[in-house]
Amino acid sequence: MSALALHRYGPEADAGIPLVLLHGFPFDSRMWSYVVTSLPLVPVVAVDAPGFGASPALPDGGLEAFADEVASSLAGVGITRAVVAGLSMGGYVALALAERHPDLLAGIALLDSKASSDDEAGRAKRLEVARAARGAAGADGAAGAAVVAPMLATVLGDTTRAHRPEVVREVKDWLAQAPPAAIAWAQESMAVRPDRHAALEGLAGRRVPALVLRGTEDTMASADDHERMARALGVDVSEVPESGHLSAVETPQPVAHALAALRHTVSY
Ligand code: MLT
Repeated sequence: MSALALHRYGPEADAGIPLVLLHGFPFDSRMWSYVVTSLPLVPVVAVDAPGFGASPALPDGGLEAFADEVASSLAGVGITRAVVAGLSMGGYVALALAERHPDLLAGIALLDSKASSDDEAGRAKRLEVARAARGAAGADGAAGAAVVAPMLATVLGDTTRAHRPEVVREVKDWLAQAPPAAIAWAQESMAVRPDRHAALEGLAGRRVPALVLRGTEDTMASADDHERMARALGVDVSEVPESGHLSAVETPQPVAHALAALRHTVSY
């Protein structure tokens, strides 16, 4: 199986523990570009999820196979310890890493995410989206985009939709470029993910530095979702005002600041 695409930024050799960034659904590592430009002194590796960006698809195996592939792709470039930050779906993968590759995690950041599994209705909705995307997979990109286009209304916060037209435009473009086969794979994978609060308790037991961050206008991952993760990790929720579910895109400066602060605690 081919390795995932790893996009490296900032200083390389001898610069200390890297920050590994896992993007949300149905985007790719470009989602982190504004955070990355605010982190010039930090070695960063932004990963494309299977089938998204420049990464090859994974035949099956769900988020667990994705997490294993992240660990082996990083090991392939000599990275065996990292601060791993995941936004939403990226957070689900960070949690799978915590469970399956705990030694990789020198620190963890969970942004606009949750550790709980889906309820029946949520699962059914995902499978419906996956079916629609699979139907569109043989068609053109525009047909695939139609499946996720409605996310524009939910993924961004009120402030962004009212006052950041350039962000709205860019996220709309990204949604239009989402590959239908990868959309289906991700939805099917997320539908069967288990509850992973126990993995968070494991990290807390080993005193792994952690950040739980939420855009206060996020309507896709709730305040309660974040409180539960933070409680399991023994930290407080960091709230970023004027930001929705895509905090790393909507408010990159405070997000970069929080990630840099987390990494600082593990480097020294
Ligand atoms: C994401 O932003 O990655 C999605 O909201 C994850 C999900 O569908 O649960």
